[in-house]
Amino acid sequence: MENIRLEFTKAASFLKPGTIESYLPKAQSAIEALEQGTCPGNDFLGWVNLPSSLTPEFLSDIKATAQALRANCDTIVVAGIGGSYLGARAVIEALQNSFQWLTNQGENPNILFAGNNIGEDYLYELCDYLKDKKFGVINISKSGTTTETALAFRLLRKQCEDQRGREDARKVIVAITDAKKGAARITADKEGYKSYIIPDNVGGRFSVLTPVGLLPIACAGLDIDQLVAGARSMEEATAAKVDVKNNLCALYAAVRNALYLEGGKKIEILANFQPKLHFIAEWWKQLYGESEGKENKGIFPAAVDFTTDLHSMGQWIQEGERTIFETVISVETTQHKLLFPHDDENLDGLNFLEGKRVDEVNKMAELGTQLAHVDGGVPNIRIVLPAINEYYIGQLIYFFEKACGVSGNILGVNAFNQPGVEAYKKNMFALLNKPGYEAESKAIRERLEKE
Ligand code: PA5
Repeated sequence: MENIRLEFTKAASFLKPGTIESYLPKAQSAIEALEQGTCPGNDFLGWVNLPSSLTPEFLSDIKATAQALRANCDTIVVAGIGGSYLGARAVIEALQNSFQWLTNQGENPNILFAGNNIGEDYLYELCDYLKDKKFGVINISKSGTTTETALAFRLLRKQCEDQRGREDARKVIVAITDAKKGAARITADKEGYKSYIIPDNVGGRFSVLTPVGLLPIACAGLDIDQLVAGARSMEEATAAKVDVKNNLCALYAAVRNALYLEGGKKIEILANFQPKLHFIAEWWKQLYGESEGKENKGIFPAAVDFTTDLHSMGQWIQEGERTIFETVISVETTQHKLLFPHDDENLDGLNFLEGKRVDEVNKMAELGTQLAHVDGGVPNIRIVLPAINEYYIGQLIYFFEKACGVSGNILGVNAFNQPGVEAYKKNMFALLNKPGYEAESKAIRERLEKE
């Protein structure tokens, strides 16, 4: 199997010669620090050697649990938010049929997601939809105390028990949480749910190759062995012993830091030309945003789906403020073949495309966009996937994770904490009069009265 590839000549041309190379020693030191556990946040480096440490026994256990859920459920609701949600959704949406929802013939359960918002209508409509479904629940929360997930789980557990009876519900509810603490652990132990532990040393956004991602992905009928094999090959290909000039993670981290720190490019736009990759970009946004956006610095990670967004954000990207660079995930081969059709009237003037692969048209849109955006002052990086399958998605995940650790290290931040996400929670709890927040409640009300 080949590897995903990285191309950045159309980014390097925006920098002085030698700039990217000058970042490579820092990238190499960062990789060594990740491997040796000497970087800031070194108690959260369990993901670095995760692919190579997953045993066949562990993967078999995940597959057996998935099989039991698949046999008993037509629908599986995954409750989780942030790192306890995005990885699974990214992989499932990249790999399953785009119309699984509508075409489901019962071969695979539909995987739905909840616990990632506090939308009353969303939750009401979800519960309503589930009324006549044989559904199961995977409750994912490392802390076990996240409001969004806990709310969804309360609703789903009750409904599952009401519809199936408590005994049967216990067979189709799985918890993925901390080994000892938090509500999810206590409930799982009390009810005897099958449960998995999220390793202490793996943060949420780096947890897709733990049960957090692997169980929902296996439930969707996808090949987690291949996913892990891909990640494992990328772990090897990006180890510290590999020549840094050939190390994809070092190169991507070097290029983006050079563009940010030397080129004044503050925003990275991750673009794809395959709608299936939409949630890969959502996962990537969390990975990079939460890892790098701190101490008043960090590239802002944005994402677009092309060609769709060329008809909305295309204008801004082409001619707006020149503080952006673009990273395109390019897919070499599609899974299916479809030809541009003939039309007798040819009113749209498109018969010249008749008989061409739709993907060829897409590829020309991609190339045309790259040239236009580079001409418009937007540095361009390409990550080339030979195909969208479990193996290459596994490679892509590990590539982005390690490059993120390296990039944060070059930037000089602790890439593995997220102190900023507590601010909204503190205010929300104060506003909702959570016991223990009396002083904060008083202060926030006084502040609101003054404002
Ligand atoms: O990356 C992270 O750490 C966060 O996105 C968390 O995963 C998210 O807040 C959910 O937390 P928990 O798994 O504790 O419910």
